[in-house]
Amino acid sequence: MANINQLLGLVAADMRHVEEKMRAGVAARYADLAAVVDYLMGAGGKRLRPVLTLMAASFYPADKTKAYALAASVELLHTATLVHDDLIDNALLRRGMPTLNVSWSAGATILAGDYLFARSAELAAETQNIRIVTIFAQTLMAIVGGELQQLFSDGHGNIPTRQEYEQRIYAKTASLFAAGTQCGAILGGASPKEEQALYDYGYHLGMAFQIVDDILDFQGDEETLGKPVASDLRQGIATLPVMLFVQKFPQHPIIRRAVSRESVSDKDMESVVKEIRASGCLEIAMTEARQLVQRAQTALAVLPDNQYRQAMHGIADYAVSRQL
Ligand code: IPE
Ligand code: IPE
Ligand code: MG
Ligand code: MG
Repeated sequence: MANINQLLGLVAADMRHVEEKMRAGVAARYADLAAVVDYLMGAGGKRLRPVLTLMAASFYPADKTKAYALAASVELLHTATLVHDDLIDNALLRRGMPTLNVSWSAGATILAGDYLFARSAELAAETQNIRIVTIFAQTLMAIVGGELQQLFSDGHGNIPTRQEYEQRIYAKTASLFAAGTQCGAILGGASPKEEQALYDYGYHLGMAFQIVDDILDFQGDEETLGKPVASDLRQGIATLPVMLFVQKFPQHPIIRRAVSRESVSDKDMESVVKEIRASGCLEIAMTEARQLVQRAQTALAVLPDNQYRQAMHGIADYAVSRQL
């Protein structure tokens, strides 16, 4: 199996144009904002969403300039949601670097995020495709809806149902992966069947990606994750590993306190993380993620068997084997 860098290498030259596009246009207007965009874009990030968007478009003779704009739009939308999310979550670390909200006021952080949203919309419009612009808007509504849901429903001591969890991970993650690959297909003029296949790929990959994110929150360490361990549970949010753990230990006192947003000492948090790691629940969750990855890969079957399809197949495997 090819490693992830080889798979990404397939669109590396295109991604250089996308990177340029993401930073362009700000400097001339606002120097402070340009510095922030440079900081955010320079902090890294895996760039999976724009890569997959480009790959989806690559099945067709798509207009390259428009494909770059679309891919940049998708990554800027992702970045904007992270800027606002970190403010909402009071997160201090992202991609191993201090978040904007550490050094900027809430007002300035909101405006920087807003600017990125607007720029992302402008780039989506550069495709001159009304369906793409509509999907862009609907995806942003889904993401914001998910954040609102989380803000109002979590922390009351409730553990989400399966259906609630699936809705949440669709909203926060799968919606944008699916939008990227679907819009790549639309830009290329894919048949309805192929467009559906690329949507299905992005959807299932996104669902798996978020489950793995929720697992890594317990498995990883702060240094590799670039954010604290168990950050979800610390905020009173129960993800799949915790939902599975609670099925085994329904009355676990530390979990109960955490999801009710009562204070939990670092020592108690460390001990419950150890228990979750030892419980086998992370492995069960990983099995679910693998099944979703298989569904993503199966969706690719209707597309021509070329290097892009093979790379997308491999990236789906990476989604469950990654450590970051
Ligand atoms: C982080 O996404 C937020 C989620 C929706 C899981 P990524 O893990 O893709 O973040 P970056 O862009 O690589 O930092
Ligand atoms: C990810 O949300 C950001 C969005 C998609 C809006 P989370 O708060 O759950 O993820 P991390 O842990 O900050 O990356
Ligand atoms: Mg959040
Ligand atoms: Mg967060």
